Amino acid sequence: MSTPEDKTGEEKVPRPSWRDVIYNPRTGEFVGRTASSWGLIFLFYLAFYGFLAGMFALTMWVMLQTLDENTPRYRDRIANPGLVIRSTSMDIFFNRSDPLTYRAYVQHLESFLQQYNNSVQGKNEQCVTGQYFDQDEEVLKKACQFRRSTLNPCSGEGDRTFGYFKGQPCILVKMNRVIGLKPRGEPYINCTAKAGNPLKMHYYPSEGRIDKMYFPYYGKKSHQSYVQPLVAVKLLITKEDYNKEISIECRVEGSNLQNNDERDKFQGRVNFRVKVME
Ligand SMILES: *[C@@H]1O[C@H](CO)[C@@H](O)[C@H](O)[C@H]1NC(C)=O
Ligand SMILES: *[C@@H]1O[C@H](CO)[C@@H](O)[C@H](O)[C@H]1NC(C)=O
Ligand SMILES: *[C@@H]1O[C@H](CO)[C@@H](O)[C@H](O)[C@H]1NC(C)=O
Repeated sequence: MSTPEDKTGEEKVPRPSWRDVIYNPRTGEFVGRTASSWGLIFLFYLAFYGFLAGMFALTMWVMLQTLDENTPRYRDRIANPGLVIRSTSMDIFFNRSDPLTYRAYVQHLESFLQQYNNSVQGKNEQCVTGQYFDQDEEVLKKACQFRRSTLNPCSGEGDRTFGYFKGQPCILVKMNRVIGLKPRGEPYINCTAKAGNPLKMHYYPSEGRIDKMYFPYYGKKSHQSYVQPLVAVKLLITKEDYNKEISIECRVEGSNLQNNDERDKFQGRVNFRVKVME
């Protein structure tokens, strides 16, 4: 059976169309819900996500309260430092007669040594050699001087090419910073050429010593003017060794610092290669 309305035409009572699905003018519904219903949903999610964000912020804050900004939180023992050389590459190959082939190495050394300028280091402390510079109580820690002039012919002050033009380059070796590290014994850097003829080397400071006064390091924030001690190794390469790749290994010795971990070949040691051409 059909109702009279049906007969009079479809225009009078319009069928729900796709428009009504989005907005229904008769009920005021928008996508199937009234404004107040949407409002409640919106409020609910606002409160819900607000609560989640609050929980997150609170736990984060509580955790941050327990951190010390200077020392890493989790470490079972003080890490053993790695050794690094200051160079743009671990393969130092150059032609001593062609300054362009060693320019990058020299520029890198020069810019790295800026912070060791005597004028800069003059503001730091003159510490007692052979003794740790303990300053656990102070808030802002002082730093011991390391003047680039102690690197002598490797300071770049007299010979601006750091020995490269003579084919006897200086290599700067340093130990990575480790907060709180106090090496026992008398650490020094010892480098050896791996194969072939023993290569003569000179160390600056003498015997490649790393003085105890540069330890401990207290961290970036409180120990701002700290500079790491350096050891310069001048490789006394002779004509007989030209055009040969020389593998060199430097290790920190004379202390309790590890230098022969099988798995970590940078722990307490560093390897690089040098080739001088003419
Ligand atoms: C080194 O540089 C000099 C001068 O530029 C050049 O005569 C010589 O052939 C170069 N040697 C090598 C091995 O490239
Ligand atoms: C370091 O000294 C050199 C000259 O020895 C100078 O050219 C350079 O500007 C100085 N750098 C700083 C940071 O004082
Ligand atoms: C440096 O290391 C080499 C090879 O391990 C060793 O023969 C030499 O005695 C060491 N030199 C010093 C001063 O420790």
